[in-house]
Amino acid sequence: MSLFLSALQQTNHTQNIPIWIMRQVGRYLPEYHQLKKNRSLFNLFHDEEFIIEATLLAPKLLNVDAAILFSDILIILNALNIPYCFHEKLGPIVNFDPLKKIIKTLNPSIFLPQLNAIRELKKQLTIPLIGFAGSPFTIASYLLEKKPNKDLLHTRRFMYAETDKFENLLDEIVEATIYYLETQILAGIDAIQLFDSATNTLPESLFFKYCIKINKKIISHLKKFSIPIILFTRNSSYNIRSLMTTGANCLSLDWLKDLKKIIRSFPKNLSIQGNMDPMMLFANDLQIKKYLNDLLPLMKEHPGYIFNLGHGIHPQTPVDKIKLVIDYVRSKS
Ligand code: CP3
Repeated sequence: MSLFLSALQQTNHTQNIPIWIMRQVGRYLPEYHQLKKNRSLFNLFHDEEFIIEATLLAPKLLNVDAAILFSDILIILNALNIPYCFHEKLGPIVNFDPLKKIIKTLNPSIFLPQLNAIRELKKQLTIPLIGFAGSPFTIASYLLEKKPNKDLLHTRRFMYAETDKFENLLDEIVEATIYYLETQILAGIDAIQLFDSATNTLPESLFFKYCIKINKKIISHLKKFSIPIILFTRNSSYNIRSLMTTGANCLSLDWLKDLKKIIRSFPKNLSIQGNMDPMMLFANDLQIKKYLNDLLPLMKEHPGYIFNLGHGIHPQTPVDKIKLVIDYVRSKS
C-alpha cells in the first residue's frame, strides 16, 4: 500500500513521512503556465485533457506521494446552474440572488470531464489520487459574498436575517456535495479532502452547527465507501477537539499552533496533515532546514502523520523552495 494511504489508515509504521502539498499544481509552477497558455481558468476546469495533464504535473515535477485532481471547489456551481467567473485580480465573482430560489435541479453532466479524468488518471498514476469538494458553508459564502471578502459580512448577515432560507440553501449544497463526492469515489478516487475555508468566521455555536455537524453529515454518508477523508478548516489548531467528532480520518492543520505542542497529544488513531506556514517558503534555506530538523523526529513518532503546508502554496513561491522542503523531508525520513 502507498505511504500516503497507509498514513491515512494510521498504519505507516515504516517511519517514512508521506508528502503532498495543497495547491501543488498552480500559478507558482512555470510548467502550469505553459500548459494553460492564455486559456481562461473557467474553461480549463471543464477540459478533461487539461485536468489530466495538470494533475500529472505534480507527480512529474515534485517527489510527492499523492496527486490531487486539478479542479476547483466552485465547479459545483456549474452543476447547480449558478453563473460565476474568475476575475484575474479579484478571484471568483458569483451572480446569485439568495432571495430568489434559483437552485433547480443538479445537472450531473457538468462533472463528466472531472469523472472521465479520474478514470484516466487512475490508469496512469502510480500514487493515490485525492478528490475534493468545498464544504457547504464555504460554497454558500461564495454565493452570498458574490466576490471574495474575508469577513463574510453578507454571508453572516443573510444567515441571521434569513435563517430558514440560508439553511435551505445549505441543505441543497449538502445534497449536491454528497452526490459529487460519491461520483468521484465511484470513478476511482482514493481519498477525499473537504475544504472548509470559511467557517472560521462563525461564533462557537454556529461553528458547531455549520462546520462540525454538516461536515459530519457528509462524512457519515461517505463512510460506506471506506475511503479516507481529510478535513481542512481554517484556524483548525484552535478547534481540534470538536473537529475530531466529525469522523474525518485526518485533520489538516494550520500553522497557528506549534506542531510540537499538538502532535504528542494527538490521538494515534487519527491522521494529521500539515502544518508548515506557506509563507515560510520565502525564508532562506538554512532557516527552512532548521525548522524541519527541529520537527522531523516528532513527525516520525505519529503513525498517521502526513507532511503538508498549513494551507495552499502561494502563487509567488519560488519552485526551488518547495523542492527543497520535499527533498529534505524525504531524505531525513
Ligand atoms: O491556485 C492556483 O494557482 C491554481 C489555479 C486556480 C485554482 N482555483 C485551482 C484550484 C485558481 C487561480 C483558482 C481560482 C480560485 N478559486 C480562487 C482565487 C484564488 C486566488 O488566489 O486568486 C478562489 C478563492 C477559489 C475558490 C477555491 N478553490 C477555494 C476556496 C479552494 C479551497 C482551498 C483553499 O485555498 O481554501 C479551492 C480549491 C482549488 N482551486 C484547488 C485547485 C487546484 C484544489 C486544492 C489543491 O490543489 O490543493
